[in-house]
Amino acid sequence: MSDRAAPDCMPRHVAIIMDGNGRWATQRGLPRSAGHRQGVEALRRTVRAAADMGISVLTLYSFSTENWARPQAEVRFLLELLRRFIRTDVADLHKSNVRIMIIGDRDGLELSLRTMFEEAEALTRHNTALKLVIAFNYGSRQEITRAVQAIARQVADGTLAAADITPAVIGAHLDTAGLPDPDLLIRTGGEQRISNYLLWQCAYTEFVFQPEYWPEFDAHSLARAIETFRMRDRRFGGLKAQTA
Ligand code: IPE
Ligand code: IPE
Ligand code: MG
Repeated sequence: MSDRAAPDCMPRHVAIIMDGNGRWATQRGLPRSAGHRQGVEALRRTVRAAADMGISVLTLYSFSTENWARPQAEVRFLLELLRRFIRTDVADLHKSNVRIMIIGDRDGLELSLRTMFEEAEALTRHNTALKLVIAFNYGSRQEITRAVQAIARQVADGTLAAADITPAVIGAHLDTAGLPDPDLLIRTGGEQRISNYLLWQCAYTEFVFQPEYWPEFDAHSLARAIETFRMRDRRFGGLKAQTA
C-alpha cells in the first residue's frame, strides 16, 4: 500500500509558513502591527480558498516557540489578534463545517487562552470539511522532545518495550497525530528555511517558496503554489512513476 499522491493530484495537506507581515508594513511606512492585522485578512482568504478547493488539512504557522523573543509589545499584539480571531471567526468556521485544531505547547499559556482553544476544538470536533490546524507556540524540536518524554515514561513504567518504538509510534505522540503528513509546504516572504516547523512531518513534503509577503497572499497565490506542486515528481525514494 502506498500513500503517495499521483503527480497530478491535489495536495491533501497544505502547511503554510505565513511570513513577511513586518516587511510588508515597513515597506509601506506602517508599524509592523498593521502587517499582522492584514495578515489575518490573508488567513481568512486562504482558509476560504482551501475549503473551496477541497483541501482536507490546512496547517498555519501563527506563532513559533522562538517568536517570544520579539519585543513584548509585538508579542502582546499577536496574542490579542489570535484571541480576536477566535472570538469573531469560530462561529462562521463552524457553520462552514470547518474543524479547528490547535498544535503547539499549551503549558504556560494563560488559562483564558487555553480555554478558548479547548472550546473552539470542542465546538467543531465533529465537522467534516476542512481541518484548520493552527500552530501556536509551536516548535517542532519541542514537539518531538515532548513525544520522546511521553514514550520514555511508557518504557520506564513497563507499558512499552524500547524495541517497539517505531516511526509510527513516534508520529502518534506528536501534536499532529492522526493527520496525514503535509504534501505541500508553502513559505511566503522569500526566506528559504523551515524555522522549526513540522520537521518530522515534512520528511517527503514538497517545498514551495513564494516571494510575496503574507498580507498579499490570496486564492491565486495558493493556486499558483498548488500548480507548482503538481509539476513536481514525487518519488519517495523510489523511481519515477511510469506514465502512459
Ligand atoms: C510572520 O511575519 C508573522 C509571525 C512570525 C508571527 P513576520 O512578523 O515574521 O514578518 P517579517 O518576516 O518580519 O517581515
Ligand atoms: C516563522 O517566521 C514563524 C511564523 C511564521 C509564525 P519567523 O519570521 O519567526 O522566522 P525566522 O525568524 O525568519 O526564521
Ligand atoms: Mg518573519
